[in-house]
Amino acid sequence: MQGSRRTPNARTGTSQHGLFNALKKQPPDPLLSLIAKLRDDPRQEKIDLGVGVYRDASGITPVMHCVKEAERLLLAMQATKSYLGSEGDVGFVNLLKPMVCGEAFARDPRLVGVQTPGGTGALRLAADVIAASVARTKIWLGLPSWPNHEPIFSAAGLTIQTYRSFDVTTQQLLFDDTIAALKSAQPGDVVLLHGCCHNPTGSDFDVAQWATLAKLMATRDLVPLLDFAYQGFGRGFEPDATGIGIVLEHVGEALVAYSCDKNFGLYRERTGALFAFTQDAPAADRVYSNMLSAARANWAMPPDHGAAVVRLILESDELRRDWHQELEDMRSRVASVRQELAAADSLFAPLVLQCGMFSLLPIDSVVIARLQAEHGIYMAGSGRINVAGIRGGDVERLVRAMRGVRGR
Ligand SMILES: Cc1ncc(COP(=O)(O)O)c(C=O)c1O
Repeated sequence: MQGSRRTPNARTGTSQHGLFNALKKQPPDPLLSLIAKLRDDPRQEKIDLGVGVYRDASGITPVMHCVKEAERLLLAMQATKSYLGSEGDVGFVNLLKPMVCGEAFARDPRLVGVQTPGGTGALRLAADVIAASVARTKIWLGLPSWPNHEPIFSAAGLTIQTYRSFDVTTQQLLFDDTIAALKSAQPGDVVLLHGCCHNPTGSDFDVAQWATLAKLMATRDLVPLLDFAYQGFGRGFEPDATGIGIVLEHVGEALVAYSCDKNFGLYRERTGALFAFTQDAPAADRVYSNMLSAARANWAMPPDHGAAVVRLILESDELRRDWHQELEDMRSRVASVRQELAAADSLFAPLVLQCGMFSLLPIDSVVIARLQAEHGIYMAGSGRINVAGIRGGDVERLVRAMRGVRGR
């Protein structure tokens, strides 16, 4: 009944004890501000190298055909939307296991996993489980890294220990510095590593480096947390899991935070999983129960739609084949844009040695601001570019603009 609605409190004074008075205003997400600015830019020829999503040669982030097909099946088949458990879609998790951790580990009772809201949810759940295991509260993070790593880990109460792992000027991995940092870590410390397609540098470890790291982590009793958000965008679907496989073969314990949001193009559907590789079956059981209790406290259960779509794709030989082909098409487009850029200007030469959607250009904030103001070319303030944001025909304009503002 309308008349029963309470009228707003007419009090106008401010209370010194207001619950929210102590809150400091937080800065907006810089990438979201960039999106808004780009949207309002009327220039037809503007180029978006900022947002971290795949774009095709015409600049669109399409819904993949296999996803559309699975959604059609889901619409016809789904009989209930009743709750699932905190573990999410168990079929989805089990189908991911061999893709993420390899066939042998997928059958190993020491491996457990739950569905999460995207890779972000997987990282947060991992951090909560780490924080709940008392002594294991320090996490080693090589910089530069994905800017959300630090807030996710600190929100869960972990102590973050950073070290330099990449030199932007030389575009080289600082592998010796990485080893030196990890040699000073204490047993039980956690080490964040990007599984493939490093965000933001595009520079991954080679096989020998993964093996060196895996042995070091095993002998020093360090626990890897592998952030695996871009499988299929780097060297190929299976090659992208090489590092994860090497690490799992060596260490006694590991966590893998997986995202399906990029390689299935599901982004806003928030689709991912957290896997834990543990010392024995009783430990697996303990870790699993902690994953479930942390999931309950955070989101009760993950959103269903994306995981149901992925499960339907992976259950069907035909849809799985289509998905692999579509993903391979995306991967090869990104690789060919890298080649085109590298051939066009020496600034971009290292991009062919890197992989995935991102690279971190050695340019300063003045150049970044001028590219935006004078040419409508938008990128993150760090100089990170999304290579997939370059449409067919953009390379020449980008190179010309870059030469203009850098004066060479
Ligand atoms: C390195 C890295 N990890 C994790 C994520 C999280 O992915 P999701 O969108 O699935 O939460 C991202 C997303 O950009 C990422 O770049």
